Amino acid sequence: MESHDRSGGRYAPLDLSPEHFRAAGHALVDRVADLLATMRARPVTAGLSVSDVRALVDVFGRMPDEGSDVDLVLSQATDLLTAHSLFNGHPKFLGYITSSPAPIGMLADLLAAAVNPNVGAWTLSPVATEIEAQTIRWIAELLGYPEESSGLLVSGGNEANFVGVYAALRAVFPRGGSERTLERMGKATIYASSETHTWIEKALDMFGLPPDALRSIRVDAARRLVLDDLAQRLAADVQDGRVPVAVIGTAGTVSTGAIDPLPAMAALCRQHRVWFHVDGAYGGFAAMIPSAPDDIRGLALADSVAVDPHKWLYAPLEAGCALVRDPAQHRAAFSYHPPYYNFGVEATNFVDYGPQNSRGFRALKVWMGLRQVGRRGYERMIADDIALARALYERLAADARCEAATLSLSIATFRYVPEAYRHRSGDVAAEEYLNTLNKALQGRLEVSGELFVSNAVIDGRYLLRACIVNFRTSARDIAEIPDIIARHGEAIHTELQR
Ligand SMILES: Cc1ncc(COP(=O)(O)O)c(C=O)c1O
Repeated sequence: MESHDRSGGRYAPLDLSPEHFRAAGHALVDRVADLLATMRARPVTAGLSVSDVRALVDVFGRMPDEGSDVDLVLSQATDLLTAHSLFNGHPKFLGYITSSPAPIGMLADLLAAAVNPNVGAWTLSPVATEIEAQTIRWIAELLGYPEESSGLLVSGGNEANFVGVYAALRAVFPRGGSERTLERMGKATIYASSETHTWIEKALDMFGLPPDALRSIRVDAARRLVLDDLAQRLAADVQDGRVPVAVIGTAGTVSTGAIDPLPAMAALCRQHRVWFHVDGAYGGFAAMIPSAPDDIRGLALADSVAVDPHKWLYAPLEAGCALVRDPAQHRAAFSYHPPYYNFGVEATNFVDYGPQNSRGFRALKVWMGLRQVGRRGYERMIADDIALARALYERLAADARCEAATLSLSIATFRYVPEAYRHRSGDVAAEEYLNTLNKALQGRLEVSGELFVSNAVIDGRYLLRACIVNFRTSARDIAEIPDIIARHGEAIHTELQR
């Protein structure tokens, strides 16, 4: 039983004595260290069905009226999560775009929760606010973005993109504008390639823009935005009295890692005086790698940029980052001064720069990772991820059992092709069969726990997609992949032939 003395005698069953906290914390850290030590030997995922997983949690029944022993609660939660989760920290987790979490980030989250600064206002989080501000300057520096720009940490890439595009919208249609402003908003247009992530549809919907505001721009064979199409659509809209608000470029598309022609897009935006926003949620940090395609560094020319430290800075979820070139325009979009908030000191209050009010200390895990390995550490890890994706692509291209489809940044797409289906391009029935087979293969791999990849659909072809944002993936892991693909692919092919 806990003594309640520390709470001045009041009932505080959530509190823990320092000794108890220390013991429980050490036990938890030991379990986490065991998890990290055994990660490679574990399956990527236990591959349980939805009903199996629900049953594991249903054991705890309905909302408890009475509490439980804290050590039991901690050990049960640790058992549940370490035995049955999908581990994106596993060397063979190459799905979607979710990175291995850096161990220092795990510890940072504990420290952040212990101090619990509310990073909405400087007064409530003096040190944390300054650390977040420094983190943002460091991120800008890594990207070659102006350090005088403003920014803030948010939940992820979606929210970082929302912040940028909302700032663009408010720059054209200031808050509290006249009826004429509202009328003009009905004519707003936003330009983005057809490969843009779905955040763009959510943003337009949430911001109340008309459904036809989104101008979907064509992509070329490499899935990059076609500049001529963008130029023509912009010119035609201006001619028609529409109000172009923003052009979106992507530095690493979600499907294939394609990089739009960002410098040329920036020049076109300058010519039309239109806000240029770059979604660098996946690929943005590759701008610091000299061997990355030159176009990627065009994100430094944008009016706003979204990047995702929980992707290529390997921060544990959640950590996105929005940067806005003009701090005044950024602030104008989000700042309100209600009478019930008097922050007193002249300092940055992050509540003025984004949609959140109370804010957690996401910056700490990012800041600590940046300090632990520095620019050089990140350059090397990101370059290695890119090199491993190339090695995978080349192995698959050289393997008769597989077909390598695309490679950009650290994303390789490919499919398994049984012998009888090789060299049958243009055969519609064969393509349908290969789609069925590779879809089933993706599902089979997932439950196997041997390898986790996701998918891309390109020109009607269902492809497997490996995205390496994982500092644990090694050359050996990559070398093992073709055999894993072929073994499961062959088994499914045999089953489908029965
Ligand atoms: C290009 C791109 N933009 C935006 C997002 C959304 O990022 P988040 O999942 O961190 O919100 C993703 C996610 O993969 C992405 O690849």
